[in-house]
Amino acid sequence: MRVTGTVRRRPEGTDNPKIPTGTVEVMASELEVLNLADPLPFQIDEPEAAARVNEEMRLKHRYLDLRRPEMLRNLRLRSRVAAATRTYFDEQGFLEVETPILFKSTPEGAREFLVPNRREPGTAYALPQSPQQFKQILMVAGVERYYQIARCFRDEDQRADRQLEFTQIDVEMSFIDREDLYATIEGLLQRVWKVGLDRDIPTPFPRLRFADALNRFGIDKPDTRFGMELADFTEEFRASPFKVFSGAVAAGGVVKALNAKGLACATQGQIQAMTDLATSFGAKGLAFIKVENGEWKSPIVKFFGETEKAALTQKLGIAEGDLVLFAAGEWLTACEILGKIRLYAADVLKAQGKLVLDPGRFDFLWVVDFPLLSFDREQNRWYSSHHPFTAPVAEDVSLLRTDPKRVRGQHYDVVVNGVELGGGSIRIHQPDVQKTIFEEVLQIPPETAQARFGYMLEAFRYGAPPHGGIALGFDRLIAILCGTPSIRDVIAFPKTAKGTCLMTESPGLMEPKQLRELGLELKVARKD
Ligand code: AMO
Ligand code: AMP
Repeated sequence: MRVTGTVRRRPEGTDNPKIPTGTVEVMASELEVLNLADPLPFQIDEPEAAARVNEEMRLKHRYLDLRRPEMLRNLRLRSRVAAATRTYFDEQGFLEVETPILFKSTPEGAREFLVPNRREPGTAYALPQSPQQFKQILMVAGVERYYQIARCFRDEDQRADRQLEFTQIDVEMSFIDREDLYATIEGLLQRVWKVGLDRDIPTPFPRLRFADALNRFGIDKPDTRFGMELADFTEEFRASPFKVFSGAVAAGGVVKALNAKGLACATQGQIQAMTDLATSFGAKGLAFIKVENGEWKSPIVKFFGETEKAALTQKLGIAEGDLVLFAAGEWLTACEILGKIRLYAADVLKAQGKLVLDPGRFDFLWVVDFPLLSFDREQNRWYSSHHPFTAPVAEDVSLLRTDPKRVRGQHYDVVVNGVELGGGSIRIHQPDVQKTIFEEVLQIPPETAQARFGYMLEAFRYGAPPHGGIALGFDRLIAILCGTPSIRDVIAFPKTAKGTCLMTESPGLMEPKQLRELGLELKVARKD
């Protein structure tokens, strides 16, 4: 509708303080209907609309959903932060370089999307999981400082913080060490928080070693806005008559516990949910103690002597109303069980109003000293904890062949409020070390390594500079700034958990003609 007229003050007593234009009105002289609108499938002008309308409906009519002020605000913030990111890197002499979307298959990380090649049936491109290899090659090319706001594709299970296609702020630099990288990224995040939220965030960010993150919080991306830290009781229970604990210690494992303060009131269902978390990691159960009416209530307390009780009280600050939970077993598993339980307990305490987190608080930290390699029991082989291009910490290189478990990687993650915002590493720049990692450590047969990564090994033979970088999840960054738990709220046209776009109804069926051209034949029946 187009209205022509004169803006004037509203008559006395007709002001509407609820709307921004509430003190004025238009005295219309002409009205023109520009277009007609069908009845809306849902209300878009009420702030609470999103909570009431189901998300499928919002995604199907995304053009209406995006009209809501909250969604437009998210898109505006996203655009402003992208602009600030470009300005920041430009000021620092970085080049934004676009890298190919039609790439080749490198089946190391997540599952890939393939794009069949009509020109040579049987061959395919793959969509990049990240510009990792191109950005490293750009370092060999002498670009020295690269960044890109890059689209990445990973065919993995979707969650609130994962999409099939997502955006990274991707960065790579030559002749740097970890400290240079931390300073560059802290500067970027400082700029982004200032532009996005007008907030000054303190730097440098604290650093936490991977082993300490696990020991204290049971996770490698800890939310440090609240305590409830894990404590270790391995020594106290080494000779305990309670065989579940002493047996775990005898087998080389640990006994860990945490105090969910004020959660003795947990319901049967909540205790069961926590037990299910423990058993999903292979534990036989979840021992716990409720402290009620001055008494420690638990079937296992009868096994505890005075020294054990004193150690528990002292390390965990046990008091009336508390719930103490235990995990016994292999170190990583025991830590991870309690890490999940810590987050679950925090959610329950939040719902009860006993744990209140300031929405304007941002706890940033770097997690460092990750193990370079992790062991895959099923496949009986080592694999890269991050990716195969991460350099080992220099003093650990000699352990690569003898004790791979102890080799630390020069890998770092930046975490905020329990969200992994980004990750990166200093890379291997010597072709011989890279070849050893591929062939001897990761046991990729030489022909396969050559076929997949030969061009990189070759490029590195022409004087690759030492280099390193990082990628920040751009969607996650914007979601945090917007205070929303789902990255779907900050992506204009996201996909559902099943990977479909409800508005365009993609993916669609392939036509017989397209299949013929691509030299493909379907083995499964079409749905239509
Ligand atoms: P990584 O795989 O850790 O590292 O990814 C970096 C960051 O990207 C974000 N992210 C995602 N966001 C939304 N949906 C997804 N499916 C998704 N997957 C990852 C996360 C994550 O921290 N090439 C390396 C980086 C490097 O070494 O420089 C890489 O991609 O926020
Ligand atoms: P059981 O002797 O197997 O009946 O176990 C005694 C108690 O220890 C039960 O409360 C179990 O839930 C608990 N429990 C069993 N395995 C573990 C474990 N790995 N860590 C912590 N508690 C456990």
